[in-house]
Amino acid sequence: MNVLVVDDEIKNAELVAAELRDAGFTASHVGGGAEALAKLETGGFDAVVTDLRMRPPDGMALLATIRERWPAISVIMMTAYGALETAREALKHGARDYVEKERDYVDVIVRILREDSESRSLKSANATLSATVESLRRDALPVVGEAPATRAALDLARKVAVTDSTVLLRGESGTGKDLFARTLHALSKRSGGPWVKVNCGALPEALLESELFGHEKGAFTGAVKQKDGRFEDAHRGTLFLDEIGEMPMSLQVKLLQAIEEKTFTRVGGNKPVTVDVRIITATNRPLEEMVKARTFREDLFFRLNVFPIVLPPLRERPGDVPRLVEHVLRKQGAPADKIDAAALRALAGYSFPGNVRELEHTIERALILAGADAITTEHLSFAQGAAPQGGSASWIPTIPPEGLSLEVLEKELILQALERAAGNKSAAARLLGLTRRTLYSRMEKHGLRAPGEGDDAEGEGE
Ligand SMILES: Nc1ncnc2c1ncn2[C@@H]1O[C@H](COP(=O)(O)OP(=O)(O)OP(=O)(O)O)[C@@H](O)[C@H]1O
Ligand SMILES: [Mg+2]
Repeated sequence: MNVLVVDDEIKNAELVAAELRDAGFTASHVGGGAEALAKLETGGFDAVVTDLRMRPPDGMALLATIRERWPAISVIMMTAYGALETAREALKHGARDYVEKERDYVDVIVRILREDSESRSLKSANATLSATVESLRRDALPVVGEAPATRAALDLARKVAVTDSTVLLRGESGTGKDLFARTLHALSKRSGGPWVKVNCGALPEALLESELFGHEKGAFTGAVKQKDGRFEDAHRGTLFLDEIGEMPMSLQVKLLQAIEEKTFTRVGGNKPVTVDVRIITATNRPLEEMVKARTFREDLFFRLNVFPIVLPPLRERPGDVPRLVEHVLRKQGAPADKIDAAALRALAGYSFPGNVRELEHTIERALILAGADAITTEHLSFAQGAAPQGGSASWIPTIPPEGLSLEVLEKELILQALERAAGNKSAAARLLGLTRRTLYSRMEKHGLRAPGEGDDAEGEGE
């Protein structure tokens, strides 16, 4: 605690400050309100102990200024004996406390300052705590996206999370199925219970059965003791069956039964085990086709498909790209403006066959390549070879396997030309091999300028 003592009886100020130092505080003193304000300007004070009656600015005036300019500083009033009315007035105006100048009053000041110091550290501990809670809450809901499709998926997730309904998450690789599954658990009333994930495609059939349902001692060679399965591990929590499309036909009946009756037997046993488990599944496989081809049981499909949530591919929600880029930059500890406008547009125009995962990898790679500089299109792996080299007419982009949008490409090239030409439209038109008039009409088409806006007027280089 750094304390400033103010009293126009300077001897008294000095004395109080000395006693406060003896009590372990940092304390200095001044002989009036004006000097006090000058001293406070320099910063670093936690409390002011001031005499009430002084030459102007007096204690009340000092209090008013401190409350307004340095609200974190506590003010303690010293009053002459019998000035209780004014002292109470001071409390009303935000003084922390007051003391009457009688015998041993500095001891009282010490006690007040100690209390003040304690409540300060409590407050800051509290602030730290709520910051932590807030960041935990944010981490629990890390789904980023503003596009209507993303919002719709999140809305569904929020609604179904609190129920015990089985959820089927569908979407291409990297669209966030895993993330949504974890979010569903985090938002559910089971969030305090276990979160168990099994990748159904990662284990051979024989092992998968015992992984899911456990086994009894001696069930097979090597089963030296009884082992619980993941269904049991997930008791009172959530079991996430990822890549459910890879579930072998032979296990599908047992799975269906386990989901419907919450009861199953361990491998090599016949004692029924009952669990309380909420099931979430995910796949990027066309389950309907698989049902037709009889590689996936129809009854299981219907049971899992009670509440489907489809996560659209990133190319269908380009509006999410800027947010996701910012999110990835933040996760990597980089500022949001680490990337330049052209690179951001190139990202928004790219089709991301690997979806959000590819976007993450693209940004992480670009961050490494860019080092201390801003990320430009040059650092984007997919844009490599797509940056025109010195206006060469021989530069022809290759259409990526998943195709491209000519409109998006044209708009991007126009924006790049305008940027390179610093807004000078004649220069931009030259870069693109267009007349200025044609450039104008294409800019209009892409909403880059209002129709008929200054066709022949100069206004160049703005
Ligand atoms: N909306 C989103 N907001 C923030 N991060 C996201 C979002 N969607 C996906 N991600 C991130 O993208 C990466 C891939 O997502 P995830 O693993 O959930 O995809 P998936 O659909 O399970 O893919 P796969 O089918 O390949 O298993 C993860 O790092 C995830 O955190
Ligand atoms: Mg996944």
